[in-house]
Amino acid sequence: MHNGWSIFFWVVYPYAMLLSFFVGTMVRIHKYGGTITAKSSEIFEKRLLIVGSITFHVGIILAFFGHILGMLVPKSWTAYFGITDHMYHLFGSLLMGIPAGTLALVGMAILTYRRMKYSRVRKTSSLNDNLVDWLLLIVICLGMACTITGAFIDFDYRVTISPWVRSLFTLHPQWQLMAQVPLIYKIHVFSGFLVFGYFPYTRLVHALTLPAAYLKRRYIIYRRRYQVN
Ligand code: HEM
Repeated sequence: MHNGWSIFFWVVYPYAMLLSFFVGTMVRIHKYGGTITAKSSEIFEKRLLIVGSITFHVGIILAFFGHILGMLVPKSWTAYFGITDHMYHLFGSLLMGIPAGTLALVGMAILTYRRMKYSRVRKTSSLNDNLVDWLLLIVICLGMACTITGAFIDFDYRVTISPWVRSLFTLHPQWQLMAQVPLIYKIHVFSGFLVFGYFPYTRLVHALTLPAAYLKRRYIIYRRRYQVN
């Protein structure tokens, strides 16, 4: 790839997405604080929502911690604790990554199906609600494709993608590290950063709020307008 394109994809673009994430989130909190919600549609359909939402959240939270470990913790640290490449790959990628990714994918597929199938959910969904569902589905599928591909090819993302991610945070972006990365990983990383850039303008912002007050608050009782006795 021409250096100019590499710099665009692996320096300009990720910083633009991170900038959008931080600035967009600040603006959303300070100017539109009241709109930070996942806008419940529970009243329209409950069964699939509960199953899909729990499955998705368990999977994505596990995958999130997997990414923190895989991207931010240098290989030398895990080696210090006696974790070999083989052990890391077997336990981290395959035994943790695949179940986590599968849960996230199944959960997201149920939630997307629900949004399309139930007309009252569909009618109260915004364009962004729909787009973000599909984006997550695509990014999760691509992530799974990386993990599966990784089982068959001789490629170590912990000496390429991971140090590149860390170099972004130390403000010395080493875009050259991305040169040898297989295309499927590149597409996953590219679309993954899009999730960050798009995050503040969608219902995903609710992830920044911990529902602590929710656990303590009184129940809100929804009643039908006409009570049938
Ligand atoms: C933005 C930067 C991102 C980077 C650099 C990145 C990198 C990676 C890499 C290297 C893998 C392969 C892991 C392995 O084989 O062990 C992977 C897998 C995966 N990624 Fe990402 N990813 C990013 C964002 C995301 C986002 C935003 C999502 C979800 C919305 C996501 C979901 C997944 C899933 C579900 C897998 C497969 C299961 C797993 O290993 O956890 N990734 N990612």
